[in-house]
Order: sequence, then C-alpha cells, then structure tokens
Amino acid sequence: MDYFPVEASQTTITELMIPAYANFGGKVHGGVILSLMDKVAYACATKHARHYCVTASVDTVDFRSPVEVGELVSLHASVNYVGNSSLEIGIRTEALNIRSGRIKHTNTSYFTMVAVGEDGKPTPVPGLLLQRHEDIRRFLEAMRRRGLARRYRQDQQNLKTALEIAQEIPLLQSEKCRIALTDHPS
Ligand SMILES: CC(C)(COP(=O)(O)OP(=O)(O)OC[C@H]1O[C@@H](n2cnc3c(N)ncnc32)[C@H](O)[C@@H]1OP(=O)(O)O)[C@@H](O)C(=O)NCCC(=O)NCCS
Repeated sequence: MDYFPVEASQTTITELMIPAYANFGGKVHGGVILSLMDKVAYACATKHARHYCVTASVDTVDFRSPVEVGELVSLHASVNYVGNSSLEIGIRTEALNIRSGRIKHTNTSYFTMVAVGEDGKPTPVPGLLLQRHEDIRRFLEAMRRRGLARRYRQDQQNLKTALEIAQEIPLLQSEKCRIALTDHPS
C-alpha cells in the first residue's frame, strides 16, 4: 500500500470577502464560508486520494466570530485521518483584516470525504504517513471523533424508532409551545 505524507495534500484557499457575500446584517453569509470549506475539503481529499471525493458528512460548524466584508479569508485543510475509503479533513478558517493585519480564527471544522471510483462506489484510499507528533495527535483525535459520530448516528436512528409521542407529550409542558391539533394521528 502507498503511504503519502500529510504535508503533500495540505491545501489553502484564500478569498476576499466582497459586498455580494454580505447578509442583511452586513456580515458575510455563513453559507459562503461553508461553500469555501467544502471546496478546500474536496481539493485536499482528492489530492491525497487521487480519486474523485464526495462529502459524506460535516462535523458541527460553530462560528466563533463573524466574518466582515473586506476581510481576506483563508481556509487551511489537512488530512487528519484515513479509513478504508473515507478521509477526515480538518479545516481551520481564519479572517485577515487587511488594513490592521489582525487575524482572527473564525472556526475549525471536520469534513468526512469518501473517495469514489469510476463506478461511483467507495474505493480505497492510500495510507497516511505520520511524520510529526501533531500528525499522530490529529489521527488519534479523528479516530475518537469517528467513534463518537458512529454512536451519534446510531442514537439518532434509535431516537426515531423509539419515539412514543403520546407518552412524551407531558415533556412539552415546560417548553415554549402550545398544542392545538388540527389533524388525527396517522
Ligand atoms: C458517501 C457515500 C459514497 C457512501 O457510500 P456507501 O455505499 O454508503 O458507503 P459505505 O457504507 O460502504 O461506506 C464507505 C465509507 O464512507 C463512510 N461513510 C458513509 N456514510 C458516512 C457518513 N454519513 N458520515 C461519515 N462517514 C460515512 C463509511 O464510514 C465508510 O468509511 P471507510 O471506508 O473509511 O470505513 C454515499 O453515501 C454517497 O454518495 N453520498 C452522497 C455524497 C454526496 O453527493 N455529497 C455531496 C452532497 S451535495
């Protein structure tokens, strides 16, 4: 099996935040940043996999601070982990105020990408060569996240199948809602 170093696929995308990206509050739309994150994750994953990659899932995205129009946003992507056909890509997003030179860290997120072959089915990816302690730490952290995500998906599935609405209605009493049914149970 081939093993490629983390550095070989590290990718950065930098883009100036123009007025067309602003929301009604004058800040940059979260969706613009998400789209850039998806692009850099794709480029980084595909560089490593040497196959077309698709986005399988996105970890939580918490924006620590807003991005302003006029800032230069850089997204740094790195392969943290490889499974059989999947790769975890870590993305650090930073916004540079080009007048003051101040850089703020706006978010760090993790995308799971899957390499697919000509037939559209998942295909194995090369191994990852861990050359720095940081690479090992990130790989181990990603393994834990993968375990947590699996359990979360299972819990979500159980939540849907095990929900007994009639039994759980009392839980709504302390919530900010009011029941005014207009239909019959299906
Ligand atoms: C992602 C996709 C290729 C997986 O196909 P699949 O037949 O379900 O694949 P498998 O169950 O064999 O899993 C393949 C790998 O994907 C991973 N995977 C599948 N679904 C996943 C999910 N929701 N989250 C994280 N990883 C996932 C599996 O863990 C497995 O990883 P491994 O090979 O490293 O062990 C398929 O679900 C797909 O094409 N989804 C649509 C992707 C897409 O179009 N994205 C853009 C949306 S606009």
